[in-house]
Amino acid sequence: MVKVVGIGAGGHAAVLIEAILAAGAAEIVGLLDADPNRHGSHVLGIPVLGNDELLPKLRDAGVTHFFNGIGSVRNTSLRERVFENALRIGLQPLDVIHPTATISPSASLGPGVTILARAVVGTRAKLGQNVLVNTAALVEHDCEIGDHVHIASGAILTGAVRLGRGVHVGAGAVVLQGLRVGNTSVIGAGAVVVRNLEPSMTVVGVPAKPVAQP
Ligand SMILES: CC(C)(COP(=O)(O)OP(=O)(O)OC[C@H]1O[C@@H](n2cnc3c(N)ncnc32)[C@H](O)[C@@H]1OP(=O)(O)O)[C@@H](O)C(=O)NCCC(=O)NCCS
Repeated sequence: MVKVVGIGAGGHAAVLIEAILAAGAAEIVGLLDADPNRHGSHVLGIPVLGNDELLPKLRDAGVTHFFNGIGSVRNTSLRERVFENALRIGLQPLDVIHPTATISPSASLGPGVTILARAVVGTRAKLGQNVLVNTAALVEHDCEIGDHVHIASGAILTGAVRLGRGVHVGAGAVVLQGLRVGNTSVIGAGAVVVRNLEPSMTVVGVPAKPVAQP
């Protein structure tokens, strides 16, 4: 069984630990977190060993894989940085796929995808690397999802939606069929997107409209 270290020790990491244990996919040797207050604690029985400066040492000790336990509520850039850093150090991303997720045999998955409980990835859907399909989210047929995208819990991408790199789709949001969403755009929780979105937009509501950028 492969040995894996988790990066992040918050709530999202706990969800991934349960998914990995349920899938029986790997031995989790520990977690790394930037917050020193978490060091020495445990998450669901898994020790928090220190921060990500330990990655080279763990690699040299036989850990071959990492999982990305960093969640996000709008900005996916930290998830991206953590992922790229672990790759640079020579670790491989673990695909975390909960056993209750449904994935079409014709879907294609990039390295290091996370697909959580009761999520669905439909026919001919294509997911890039480090894509997070959160609990009960639905990615319908022929969708194309860019690297590092987070599709939050219960969101629905109807058929043939194309999301650029680093997009965040909020919990329960819906994107209508065939639409394109530009890189790093943020779709608020519960929004219904009815038009294409340019890069770096933040939209909320039904139908979704832009909000002022922070
Ligand atoms: C869209 C979002 C990123 C905006 O965050 P923000 O930039 O901090 O915006 P604010 O909270 O300052 O709100 C700005 C305005 O938009 C409104 N607003 C914020 N989120 C909204 C939403 N999801 N739907 C409708 N209106 C929303 C606020 O009420 C506020 O309106 P006002 O100016 O009339 O008072 C955030 O609210 C959101 O929905 N994030 C997604 C959360 C998520 O998916 N969580 C799941 C993680 S697994």
